[in-house]
Amino acid sequence: MLLASRLRAAGRPALAASVRARRPASSSSSASTKPSPWASPVTWTSLGLSGAAGAAVLAYYEYERARKRREVLTKVTTTGKPDLGGPWALVRARDGALVTNESYAGKHTLLYFGFSKCPDICPSELVKVGRVMDALPPRMRDNLVPLFVSVDPWRDSVAQLRAYAADFHPTIDFLTGTPDMVGAAGRKYRVYSSKADDAGDDDYLLDHSIVLYLVSPTGEFLDFFTQSKTASECIAVIERHMQGAGPEEDLPEHLGPVDWALGLLGLRDTGAPDEDGEFHDTKAGAAKA
Ligand code: NI
Repeated sequence: MLLASRLRAAGRPALAASVRARRPASSSSSASTKPSPWASPVTWTSLGLSGAAGAAVLAYYEYERARKRREVLTKVTTTGKPDLGGPWALVRARDGALVTNESYAGKHTLLYFGFSKCPDICPSELVKVGRVMDALPPRMRDNLVPLFVSVDPWRDSVAQLRAYAADFHPTIDFLTGTPDMVGAAGRKYRVYSSKADDAGDDDYLLDHSIVLYLVSPTGEFLDFFTQSKTASECIAVIERHMQGAGPEEDLPEHLGPVDWALGLLGLRDTGAPDEDGEFHDTKAGAAKA
């Protein structure tokens, strides 16, 4: 890597020289009066030019490699952060208050969409949420509010949810609302729900997505947990996010020109793109040297 960096550094002026050298050769008038460097098979000039071309190829290869690596990093960022979340307004069962996403600003939230008449999945997911809350260090527990959002506004009244809440962890806020309010909140998280057996009466089940969404204190979607994730797997990821060490922090920092120069000299580990967007990864080279 260090060698490649040096070659590239050397290759830049040499490449410029080779471009200048080509111009007279391509113009017919000067080519006839002066012997072209391409005329004799081997001269110092042609050796120099092929060296420069080699350096240019190396530089180009390095550039492409850096570009692909950057592409991969960018892709990870975009797929890791789907466009989920946004403002919502619902009614809190505990006190009948109208609450919005802003009511929970400053705290992390753990959202789950379900319904109180769900026979098994919703209760077991809510038990899991309770386990997560019990296992978190108190400092983090105080900074995380689990929210249960009903996808069944027809039956999940404030009174119904208040009674239902008694079976689960006391930190969970149960939210419901009009079908419009509940539908709008669900759409922000691309929640699927549909009556499974609509016989027209009040005795129906709902098919719905079973996902826990972790949202930041500023309302930014951070992560999600499917049903297959155990409480301890959820806890590990939640703790990482709440410690401010989310995946985005693993991306290389932006490097200034001084870092770039130090990187060329092998004095700084610059496994990150410089201002030209190129990577100068001297770590491997420095380790071998
Ligand atoms: Ni359910």
